[in-house]
Amino acid sequence: MKKRYVKSLGVMAIAMSMLAGTPVDSFAASTSGTVSEEQTLELTGQQAQGLAEVQSVTKGVIDEAKIPEQLNVHVGDDASSQVNVTYTTVADTNTTIRLNKVGDEEAIYFQGESYVGISGKYIHEIAVSGLEAYTEYEYTVGDGFNSATGTFKTALAKNDSQTFTFAYLADTQVSNASNAKALGATLAEINVMNPDFVYLAGDITDRATNEDQWQWLFNNDGLYPTGGEDMFANSLIAITQGNHDNNEMYQHINAPEEADKIAYSFDYGCMRFISLNLEMARYSDDSRAKQEEMLRKEVEDAKANGQWVVVGFHKSLYTGASHIVDGDIIDARKFWCPILAELGVDLVLQGHDHVYSRGFVTAEGENAHPAINEDGSIEQPANAPLYMVGGHAGGLKWYSRKNYTVSEGDPLSLNYEFLDVNSTDTGSDIKKEQVITTFEVSEDAIKSVTYMFKYDTETDQITTDKYVYDEFTLERDTSGAVTSYLKGTELIVDENEDTLEYTVQYDNINEANAFEIALSYDTNVLELTESASCLDDTIFTDSSDENGVASLIIGLQTPVSSSVRRNVAKFSFKIKDGVDVDEIIVKLIKADTVELSDIEDQLSALDISSETVKGEVVTEFYSYEKACDINKDGKVTLADLAIALTKYQTTDEKCDINRDDIVNVLDYVMIASYME
Ligand SMILES: [Fe+2]
Ligand SMILES: [Fe+2]
Repeated sequence: MKKRYVKSLGVMAIAMSMLAGTPVDSFAASTSGTVSEEQTLELTGQQAQGLAEVQSVTKGVIDEAKIPEQLNVHVGDDASSQVNVTYTTVADTNTTIRLNKVGDEEAIYFQGESYVGISGKYIHEIAVSGLEAYTEYEYTVGDGFNSATGTFKTALAKNDSQTFTFAYLADTQVSNASNAKALGATLAEINVMNPDFVYLAGDITDRATNEDQWQWLFNNDGLYPTGGEDMFANSLIAITQGNHDNNEMYQHINAPEEADKIAYSFDYGCMRFISLNLEMARYSDDSRAKQEEMLRKEVEDAKANGQWVVVGFHKSLYTGASHIVDGDIIDARKFWCPILAELGVDLVLQGHDHVYSRGFVTAEGENAHPAINEDGSIEQPANAPLYMVGGHAGGLKWYSRKNYTVSEGDPLSLNYEFLDVNSTDTGSDIKKEQVITTFEVSEDAIKSVTYMFKYDTETDQITTDKYVYDEFTLERDTSGAVTSYLKGTELIVDENEDTLEYTVQYDNINEANAFEIALSYDTNVLELTESASCLDDTIFTDSSDENGVASLIIGLQTPVSSSVRRNVAKFSFKIKDGVDVDEIIVKLIKADTVELSDIEDQLSALDISSETVKGEVVTEFYSYEKACDINKDGKVTLADLAIALTKYQTTDEKCDINRDDIVNVLDYVMIASYME
């Protein structure tokens, strides 16, 4: 469905006076600034028409059938600048939103589209874009008179290293007026906690085609009657599709679509979140293949950016209760879990089993037993994602554990051995408590706290106050991973001089003395004239230019650190005659570096070289290639060059690759020539 963008308020005021002949008042109370003729012309007739409708109702009477309900704000494709707003009305009315930054009068407007859903209600969908990252917005939807309001905060920009929070709720799964009350208490608690966003792990309602259940999701009755509508209107949410959510769910909540419906990903600062739709994957090999492709691409890219990788889907593949050996879950586990381990996903957030559990699980289905640091934090193990199940946010049902056997080829260990925490051990299936898990995410740690409490739907009382059920901190070693910020590169074209310069910049350089950068370009339009280091004290560079790939290795003796973006290399090109500069594409394909560490391995000599000693031919085994692998990890990489650079002008044997008793650029050239 195409969504239309409506220009900002100032533009609208002028367009209105031109087309409708009346100024905008109540809906757009705070006009400010002037607008140029050019901008006014950007409004299409259709967009202006919609705004005229806004105007026409501003002096009407309240019509409850036109008041927006079930209002929610889901992350858009780019969560730092886009959101998808959805709401319903009983009667047909305009689909418009007005937003302004909290504390800022200037407003922007967007118009969406509506259609009649299966409930007979009007479904209004608005795609909002162009927002500022990590910024709180307040908004009003509706026709300008019959309206509803809310607030939300956009996501941190990709790679912004600020700490942020989110809440994780599994299986809100409203089925009747009674359990809706328990959910209302959970959602009211989320409103108090006020996380940056809320992740809902599927089974939003018990039956997505039942409009009453949607009504109860937002309007809860009981002690916290507005818990739902307050949470949904005032939080940024991200959802995944559960087995109780069929496609009718999208008549109420709109996630972005990437690989099939509702498999999508978004960046939130130092984290990439990937939501998979295992329901679609279950019934369609094609959907599964598409989602696998998306997952691999997204994880690879996130890892290159140094982000945490969190994957969300509904049906728990590792869990503490009875769904552990359902046929379709075994099948999904066999397919997805080796991939999630291989890719080194950090955290997997699941639902469906109405239990709280967690465990770091290897590709074979074993408990990875991660190392515990002195401060009690858990060291993120390699290739063993932390699989969590978030309990039950509502009041419908709680599953128990079961005895099971492991079938052929199923990566699973017996008796829930793969878990570190399982709430059935403490009677969660008997206590039937509501569960909220929260995360605080920073670049090198994820702190998680899980709360439980009990809302008694019979007596409408909280019979067990909120308490901390589980908490842990997951740490990862970010010292070796240096973030390369590919987006920040600059392309400067000087058309008069027929030259083009491309500057490669790095963020967060951490104790690095070796850099390897590669660009691809079209040799039909450009000719490389120079590649050079921008860093002081460069003692070594090695450049190549082959088949449209220009690469440069830079070495410094003394490692550098920089928390601000820094120019590292500059590539200069001559633009060939007759080339239109708009057609030039230069792509950064590699921006690597290593952090230096002391590795005192011995050099071993293999292979053959010969020299004459006292008239005898002595055959010695020596391989330059092996010698170049200074840290002895079986490959020649930038890490080896980095070590050698620190020994510049010394007689260090390990780094004296050509054995001329001095470590110098000749050795670096050899290492660079063997680098993978
Ligand atoms: Fe489920
Ligand atoms: Fe469920």
